[in-house]
Amino acid sequence: MATPVALRSIVKRAGRGENTRAMPNKDVVIVILAAGKGTRLKSSLAKVLHPAGGRSLMESVVRACLPLAPKKILAIVGHQAEQVTAAIELLDVESVLQQPQNGTGHAMLVAKRAIGSAKLVVVLPGDAPLVRTETLKALIATHHSGNAAATILSAVVTDPSGYGRILRKSENSVAAIVEDSQLTPDQRELNEINSSIYCFSADKLWPALARVKPENKHREIYLTDAIAILAAKGEPVLAQIAPDPREVLGCNTRADLAEVDAIFRERKRNELMTAGVTIQLPETVLIGPDVTSGEDTVIEPCVQLLGKTKLGANCTIRTGSVLHDAVLGDGVTVEPHTMIFESHLDGGNTVGPFARIRPGSHLKKGARVGNFVETKKAVIGEGSKVPHLSYIGDAKLGSHTNIGAGTITCNYDGVNKFPTIIGNRVFIGSDSVLVAPVKIGDGAYIGAGSAITENVPPNALGLARSRQTTKPGWAAKKRREMAASNHGKKSPKKRSASKKSRRRGKSRRK
Ligand code: UD1
Ligand code: CA
Repeated sequence: MATPVALRSIVKRAGRGENTRAMPNKDVVIVILAAGKGTRLKSSLAKVLHPAGGRSLMESVVRACLPLAPKKILAIVGHQAEQVTAAIELLDVESVLQQPQNGTGHAMLVAKRAIGSAKLVVVLPGDAPLVRTETLKALIATHHSGNAAATILSAVVTDPSGYGRILRKSENSVAAIVEDSQLTPDQRELNEINSSIYCFSADKLWPALARVKPENKHREIYLTDAIAILAAKGEPVLAQIAPDPREVLGCNTRADLAEVDAIFRERKRNELMTAGVTIQLPETVLIGPDVTSGEDTVIEPCVQLLGKTKLGANCTIRTGSVLHDAVLGDGVTVEPHTMIFESHLDGGNTVGPFARIRPGSHLKKGARVGNFVETKKAVIGEGSKVPHLSYIGDAKLGSHTNIGAGTITCNYDGVNKFPTIIGNRVFIGSDSVLVAPVKIGDGAYIGAGSAITENVPPNALGLARSRQTTKPGWAAKKRREMAASNHGKKSPKKRSASKKSRRRGKSRRK
């Protein structure tokens, strides 16, 4: 096997982004292991890029580490290195390429130069995203107070299968970590597992790791084997049991991903409920990590709140609605089965049911968009109403304007999009089409069923439909003529009931 020095190692400094760290703790470097492929997921996407709880696994791990204010955070990348680096680019993480991936211990050796002279190395797998900052802080505190060479975050679980097991020397010290595949039959009973989250004193780690051999069926250098080497030397090795075993869940399979996702979602719902939001049948509601809400807002079952959605206070989001990057003022009611994407609704609005509010829509104060209405890049002015069955795209409506049912803005000629400008207190009769570019002045009326292709000045009536013709008695006369022309013909009933005539009879009735 190639020695680590011979391996290509890139160090890329990602741009400084949103992270505003506290005073850096210059003794601590964090290493996130994220080079593996994740074979058990059966995916073309690298494991750590899979989402759970609305973020990639990797991003969640980095976010848990940021408040520790380490000297640096290193991500060991390999599979889809560029994409993994890009996913955490804004979080001030340095990537180190591990190519090929010869195990978790090998990953640490590849990172050695980037770790430099840090005294403490905190290691996390990129696939265990539920870990909390508080738990990491407690782990580091235990490491310091125990004067340990290594401190492992462990967990006691009912089903330990798949995980490395903690083999204790005494109540307070660890002898080894035994990988699942290497357990002896009596070790199978051990239910304290290795989370793959550790704290190492660097001066103890490196010599131990140098002695680890790839003696396992994958011919990999396991970081876990360094534990037995340290323990055998008499170095203090501790294991701290995580307060909640769910925090260390690793994602090796799709089922693991689903379980982790569900836990993130539950945490987020609890966060909002603690902040004063009512959530009915919480387990049916999906909320993204960046969503915020004011107090006394009610979220009905089967709602999804995604992206950077911000709800005001006293809103009601009724069942089946999906909001993505939606910003709602106070007291907004979103009726059932409404979709809102990248749009603003001022306070006091009601929207839906069955409305689709597409990007760039702004419903001003008291505006009403009702059932089966689609808006896109549309400003609906104060108190204006689009109550039913309309498409309003690339349009600007003034205040207190009423749009009749079935009104359509024809904003697109197949190549370009054009605007429709409608003033204040305008009345658009039902089933009108407004062929853009077109302007309807303040106070104008549009007759129902019009196809408006020219601007309508303020206070005018625009009527663009053919005049109605009414012919008195026409229908009655028609009926009489039809009855006469049928007279004398045999009724189909009286005919011989051959198959052929039955068929003809049927077709005539169509
Ligand atoms: C590992 C631990 C096991 C522990 C479990 C917890 C080892 C040998 N075993 O097993 O004791 O119970 O995590 O979830 O460490 N990685 C690299 N480079 C590599 C190999 C892996 O960066 O060469 C990364 C992976 O991308 C992953 C992490 O290390 O994020 C852990 O690797 P994985 O293959 O998931 O290890 P497990 O078999 O789960
Ligand atoms: Ca794993």
